[in-house]
Amino acid sequence: MKTLLVGYRAADLFEKDRRGRRMTARWLDGDTTCHTLDIYDRHAIEKTHHAKAICSAHLPAGPWDLVKFRTGPKLMSGELSLDLLQEIHRLSPARFELDYVGRESGRNDLLAKIKDDPGRVRDFSARWKASVPGIEPVEFTSVPGCFCHRRLDEGGLALAEVVSRELREQRGGASLRLLDMGCGCGLVGFLVAKAVPDVSLVMVDSHSRAVEAANINAENIGIPAEVILSDAGTPSRMDGTFDVFVGNPPYYSDYRIADVFLETAKRALKPGGVCYTVCKNAAGLEPVQRRYFPDVEIVRRRGYAVLKSPFYRRSSAMP
Ligand SMILES: C[S@@+](CC[C@H](N)C(=O)[O-])C[C@H]1O[C@@H](n2cnc3c(N)ncnc32)[C@H](O)[C@@H]1O
Repeated sequence: MKTLLVGYRAADLFEKDRRGRRMTARWLDGDTTCHTLDIYDRHAIEKTHHAKAICSAHLPAGPWDLVKFRTGPKLMSGELSLDLLQEIHRLSPARFELDYVGRESGRNDLLAKIKDDPGRVRDFSARWKASVPGIEPVEFTSVPGCFCHRRLDEGGLALAEVVSRELREQRGGASLRLLDMGCGCGLVGFLVAKAVPDVSLVMVDSHSRAVEAANINAENIGIPAEVILSDAGTPSRMDGTFDVFVGNPPYYSDYRIADVFLETAKRALKPGGVCYTVCKNAAGLEPVQRRYFPDVEIVRRRGYAVLKSPFYRRSSAMP
């Protein structure tokens, strides 16, 4: 039976054997494909369960005998649930199962939203404007699943403001290559490229919907960008080619992801380049950033801390 699993993570694909030991669920057989929106989840499923997994912004075409969708208020936004339900409906699987994590009433509310007209195609994308001093507001598009969908992140905006001001003041008219890691819909990179002349952009995100939104914005804003789907930074062919790194990393999982960002920054920057990150509270991130860059200057903006580090040269003594 050709089965598509939507919304499942590696941790959801275990069951207990008779002795209570965790093992890969037996129902995860060879004809099952796990769809993920984040490439990290795809890699985790492949590594942990050796199962078939794909990562894409939209669900893969069938035919599917069964589609199982795992969702709930703690797993994803209501809008993303509806968007994916809509896609599942269009796939017309022979059977559909909703694996709802949460209260029965929440499950019923979700299904009630599509009950009368399951075939209605709603556009859940959102458009909103953002700006930094000296430029006209820029219109951004975001899509469900993408970080900062329907809203602007103040941390990202603080980072864009500090970086554009400094690059305008310090870099004169020199052309610059900028890497925006964890780009989301591209807020930071596109604002900086609007404010500073002659910036060429590379963007990376592990989430396929972020990559989709950043590509839409490159087109609509009219600024070319190479947008890469990756949870491990830029490819090695780009090592040592960037003048500026910007990153607004997520801070869950004990700075593990911030570590991936900073490791990429150190690999990607040219000597003389600068790494900028942003966070709410510098005390947690500063020691992590110092492991990669010995100098960290803190610039306060909008209640956030922008951590700025010059990159001097490559040294085998540093991680
Ligand atoms: C806090 S959001 C910042 C988004 C955007 N730069 C902004 O400031 O609005 C962090 C982003 O990092 C992405 N992310 C998480 N882990 C990642 C990884 N290992 N590699 C690349 N991006 C990652 C998330 O998908 C998310 O889009």
